[in-house]
This record gives sequence, structure tokens and C-alpha cells, in this order.
Amino acid sequence: MLDHNTIEIIKSTVPVLEKHGETITTRFYQLMFGNHPELLNIFNHANQKQGKQQKALAGTVYAAAQYIDNLEAILPVVNQIAHKHRSLGIKAEHYPIVGKHLLLAIKDVLGEAATDEIIDAWGKAYGVIADVFISVEAEMYEEASTQQGGWDDFRSFIVDRKVKESDVITSFYLKPADNKEIAHFLPGQYISIKLEIEGQEYTHIRQYSLSDAPGKDYYRISVKREAGPVNPDGMVSNYLHDTVTEGEVLQVSAPAGDFVLDTKKNTPVVLLSGGVGLTPMLSMLKTVVEVQPQRNVTFIHAAANGNVHALREEVESLTSVENVNSYFFYDSPTEEDRRNNNFDVEGYVTQDWLVKNIPTIEADFYFCGPVPFMKSINSSLKNLGVVEERIHFEFFGPKGSLEESVMIEPVSV
Ligand SMILES: Cc1cc2nc3c(=O)[nH]c(=O)nc-3n(C[C@H](O)[C@H](O)[C@H](O)COP(=O)(O)OP(=O)(O)OC[C@H]3O[C@@H](n4cnc5c(N)ncnc54)[C@H](O)[C@@H]3O)c2cc1C
Ligand code: HEM
Repeated sequence: MLDHNTIEIIKSTVPVLEKHGETITTRFYQLMFGNHPELLNIFNHANQKQGKQQKALAGTVYAAAQYIDNLEAILPVVNQIAHKHRSLGIKAEHYPIVGKHLLLAIKDVLGEAATDEIIDAWGKAYGVIADVFISVEAEMYEEASTQQGGWDDFRSFIVDRKVKESDVITSFYLKPADNKEIAHFLPGQYISIKLEIEGQEYTHIRQYSLSDAPGKDYYRISVKREAGPVNPDGMVSNYLHDTVTEGEVLQVSAPAGDFVLDTKKNTPVVLLSGGVGLTPMLSMLKTVVEVQPQRNVTFIHAAANGNVHALREEVESLTSVENVNSYFFYDSPTEEDRRNNNFDVEGYVTQDWLVKNIPTIEADFYFCGPVPFMKSINSSLKNLGVVEERIHFEFFGPKGSLEESVMIEPVSV
């Protein structure tokens, strides 16, 4: 445990580091990637360019430092990050590299204000925080590899089937190349895919939620093509759409993530998704119908129109059950959508609509989608009096806040 003086120094310097947060972390990444270019195999380059991961990692170190004498309080946050780290293959030996370069960056940016005493205190604090992550992650690696059908790091999977689901979303059915058993997963969890792309110096790793129910002999992911035109085309999604064909081998992590449907509960469940955010929701919907057929489910999906609306038949095939209701929202329906009655509501999911249509505010609410969609759902639910413990959500990028106006923006969904 840290001594009283060190804790005092840490707590009193957190605001200074936060003030210089972005400058320090930009410098940190410059220094770290300069000395350890091999880490570019793990970090998402697009997130780097947009400063997202910068804010996420450093912000969490400072936030953790504020709780340095009560790290138990941040265990739920550590747990969520540790799932991501485990799926990326982050190991104990990576932590001293991050620590060393964070201290170098602090020294660089603060200059003489960063006395030896301050640097020493932050070195100790980082060590304590890193140890918490390392031990949580060690348990996760152990669990991932020792579970039935499990493995640690990456395992070869063959693309068994590639199915176009809409103009922008394509599913990939992945089967293990060794033909052996695969690990069970919880509905809502994701896998990481590691790609070696010809002509690219580094590997690229991305997460994809599992879009089918657990218990099959394959994992299914459904991927949206992230296309420009203003920004460069998304690296991995476009490669998967354009280049990866059936029969190709992909490197896949064991399932991870703490955004999961609690099937021990019997509360009504409301699943809300926008765009490709439907992938974890569909897995949850399929699971409830399979294992809790009595449970009341409301499935709400928002898409621009029928052209980009993926997997609708799968949802429809499940909503014939009496206690399952589904609603499709289109904000830009086509003439064909109108002719065929493809949607239930035109426009966005509003608080007014929710108040009239959700079964109860005592339901459990799960949502995922573009950030504005998530912010709007979150504030509607809060306004309706839904308590925090019943609100669950997933970001398709580094986790941000749904409350603040300035936040870490994940990729559009
Ligand atoms: C837990 C989790 C689950 C997910 N599940 C799914 C899922 O089920 N389906 C799915 O489709 N996705 C999912 N994602 C998102 C997925 O991981 C990828 O982020 C997504 O596919 C985009 O990756 P990419 O390599 O194509 O784009 P990247 O190359 O990572 O680019 C991301 C975005 O940044 C833009 N960009 C790139 N370079 C720059 C630059 N220099 N300046 C400005 N902008 C730039 C791109 O145009 C793109 O829109 C999930 C993410 C997480 C964290
Ligand atoms: C105590 C130290 C660390 C903290 C507090 C931390 C914090 C974070 C946070 C908050 C995220 C975003 C997670 C999310 O929202 O999903 C993240 C992701 C990530 N972390 Fe860490 N991290 C630490 C150490 C490390 C180390 C040692 C490495 C490896 C060298 C690492 C590599 C990554 C990568 C690659 C991602 C994914 C980001 C991306 O897509 O680029 N982290 N980390």
C-alpha cells in the first residue's frame, strides 16, 4: 500500500495532469510508439488519429489515481477495460512499458514542475493501478483458456459462410480451423478479429459483437462497412467486405465483454438498437426466446430505411411469440418501404413514444447504436425514472460518457 505522503501528492497533482491531459498523452504515445513500434500491432490507428484512445487510457489512469486509497471502487470499470485488454492480448509485460512512457511524458510536458518527488509518487501509483489490471486480466486469461472449448490469445477460424444482410451489413459465420469445440459465450459479448492485410506493416485488431445466439458450432459476426467519403474508409470493415471470402482463415479471440443479458432475472427486457448496434441485441433476443420463453421482451430497432435494415426476417421470425413485441423505426423510408409497410414508426425513437410503449420502467434496458442515438435513449430513460442499475449499454468504440457534452466519440454505427 502507498504511504500517506505519496497519496497526498497523487491526489493534489491529478488536476494538474488532467489540465495537461491531452498534451501529455499525445507525447506519451509518440514516445512509446517511437521506442516500441511493435505495439502498433495492437493499437487501433484510426482511434489514435482521432485521439480517442489517448483520452481513454490517460483519463482512466487519472480517474483511478483519485481512488488510489480505495481501488475497490473502480473495479467495475477495470473489469470492463480488462475484458477489452484480454480480447486484444494485452499482457503483464506490456504494463511497465506504458508506465515508463507515461512518466517520461509527464516529465517532458511539466518540465521543472514535475519534481522527483512527484514523478516518484506517480511511478508508485501507476504500479499499484497496473497491478490491479494485471491480476484481473490474469484471471480472465485463465478463465478464457480453461473453459470448455476455450483458448487464450488468438485461434484460427475459417469463414464458413459470408451472407449479405443489407446494403451495408454482411455476416460472417466463423468455424474453428481445428474443427474442435468452441467456447460458450454470453449474449451481448464480442470477439476480437486480428487481420494481417497485404501491404500493411502492422496487424489490425477490431471487436465484433456476436450476432447469433450462443450454443452453435460457429460464431457469427455482422459487420457494417465503414465508408468515407469525408474520412478514409474503415480499414478492417472494408477489408472484410471486399477481400475476405469464404474459406479464408481469420484470427479470433475468445468471447469477451461485460455487456451481457442477465438470464437469471425475469424482469421485462427492452432491447433498443440503432444501425449495426443491433448485433448484440439480436443475440439477446434469440437467447431470451430460447431459454426464457415466458419473459416479456420489447425489441426496438432504428434504421435509416429498408435498404440498410439488416436481419429483419430473423427478428420477425421470433416475434410471433405473444410476449415478444418488435418495432422498426425508419427515419428516411423509401417509397418501397411505404408501399410494403416495412416499418412501424417513421422518425426517431422519442421519449414520448417510449412512455406510451414500454411495458414498465422496472424493465431492464439494453441499448447500442450511434452516439446521438445512445445519448437520446439514455436521457429519455433517465427522464422516465428508470434507475441506473437497469440501464445497460455498449459502445462500438472506446467507452465514452453519455452524460457530458464533451465526450470520447466512438466510431459511427
Ligand atoms: C465491443 C464492440 C463491439 C462491436 N461490434 C460491432 C459489430 O457487431 N458490427 C460492426 O460492424 N462493428 C462493430 N464494432 C465496431 C468495430 O470494432 C470497428 O470499429 C468498425 O468495424 C470500424 O473498423 P474499421 O477498421 O473498418 O474502421 P477504422 O479504420 O478503425 O476507422 C474507424 C472510423 O474512423 C474513420 N477514420 C479512419 N481514419 C481516419 C482519420 N485519419 N481521420 C478521421 N477519421 C478516420 C473511418 O472512416 C471510420 O469511420 C464493435 C466495436 C466494439 C468496441
Ligand atoms: C493501467 C494502465 C491502463 C489503463 C488505465 C488503460 C485503460 C484503457 C481504456 C480506458 C481503454 C478503452 C477501453 C474501452 O472503452 O473499451 C483501453 C483500451 C486499450 N488499451 Fe489500455 N489501459 C492500460 C494499459 C494498457 C497497456 C499496458 C496496453 C498495451 C500496451 C494497453 C492497450 C490498449 C489497447 C490496444 C486498447 C484498445 C484501444 C484501441 O482500440 O486502440 N492498455 N485501455
